[in-house]
Amino acid sequence: MSATTLLSGRGLRKSFPVRRGVLMLVRGQLKALHSFDFDIRAGETLGVVGESGCGKTTLGRVLARIHEGEGSLEYTGRDGQRYDALGKLDPKRELAFRRDVQMVFQDPYSSLDPRMTVEKILLEPLEAHGMAKDKAAAKAYLCELLARVGLHADALQRYPHEFSGGQRQRIAVARALALKPRLIICDEPTSALDVSVQSQVINLLKEIQEREGLAYIFISHNLDLVRYVSDRIYVMYLGRVVEAGESELLFSDPAHPYTQALLRSIPNWDPQARSLLNAELRGEAPSPLWDPPGCPFEPRCPKAAARCRSEAPAQRDVRGRLVACHFA
Ligand SMILES: Nc1ncnc2c1ncn2[C@@H]1O[C@H](COP(=O)(O)OP(=O)(O)OP(=O)(O)O)[C@@H](O)[C@H]1O
Ligand SMILES: [Mg+2]
Repeated sequence: MSATTLLSGRGLRKSFPVRRGVLMLVRGQLKALHSFDFDIRAGETLGVVGESGCGKTTLGRVLARIHEGEGSLEYTGRDGQRYDALGKLDPKRELAFRRDVQMVFQDPYSSLDPRMTVEKILLEPLEAHGMAKDKAAAKAYLCELLARVGLHADALQRYPHEFSGGQRQRIAVARALALKPRLIICDEPTSALDVSVQSQVINLLKEIQEREGLAYIFISHNLDLVRYVSDRIYVMYLGRVVEAGESELLFSDPAHPYTQALLRSIPNWDPQARSLLNAELRGEAPSPLWDPPGCPFEPRCPKAAARCRSEAPAQRDVRGRLVACHFA
């Protein structure tokens, strides 16, 4: 349990400027992440779940430094030094962070450049990090990378459109692995794939983790999948953590009313089949522009009381996990 904490976020925030109103004249801020606290240890798998629009992708992008967030985000480098990874880094640290933390995106059709051969796609990160100076050695390494994700070396000369969705996602995984990262953030890595191919890609990711000991953050709508892969889970609602703890604990004994409703809706947990979820949760998710003083889940919560409208619940320990609810 004393594994190094890789990344540790405190009060992480991200807002987007938006225009609203009928004439789109009113400028406002959409708070996609509200004061988000989280930690991930080396070799651990974290699951992140929550309805569409709750801020999962935004979180992944802030953690990967694709979006610039606010708050604090501490990273422990390979040399054991901890530093704040938000904002500008010195070039050496920037390069090291880019190497250590990779992201695999939801859509394998748009995340690979269609004009590049697989060889170019895989070579690009190596070149950016000065690791492809010996051409023959780099090529041999690419073949080895492909073998690790179950693809044949002849894939190198082909283009992304010549592959199936599952094969493309394997190429995206190979690209993420190329620099031997310490953390891969997987944002819905299988939701664009057939169910049978989904489990192949998930099992591949798990096998790689067992061999190489890297950490994953697994963002997904699919609760069954998140339960299968994750050591710990963060349940998100409107940019906040509502419950966080060991995966089995959350699944066997959910404490937050939102987690409870999500788990009851598992058979229909699918963005296309929301009806059951909505029946459970009393109405649609609120607008992301809504920023209430109290608990954001209050309008849909079966336990809601007056206090929930006026006072935001702080995170507290309830039966061994963190929960943000006055009545959990
Ligand atoms: N670049 C942006 N500009 C303005 N608003 C944005 C931007 N990116 C995300 N948002 C808003 O931030 C909120 C969170 O979006 P995000 O993509 O993180 O949700 P998500 O949980 O990943 O949803 P999904 O499950 O549908 O992928 C949404 O309301 C979204 O509209
Ligand atoms: Mg998303």
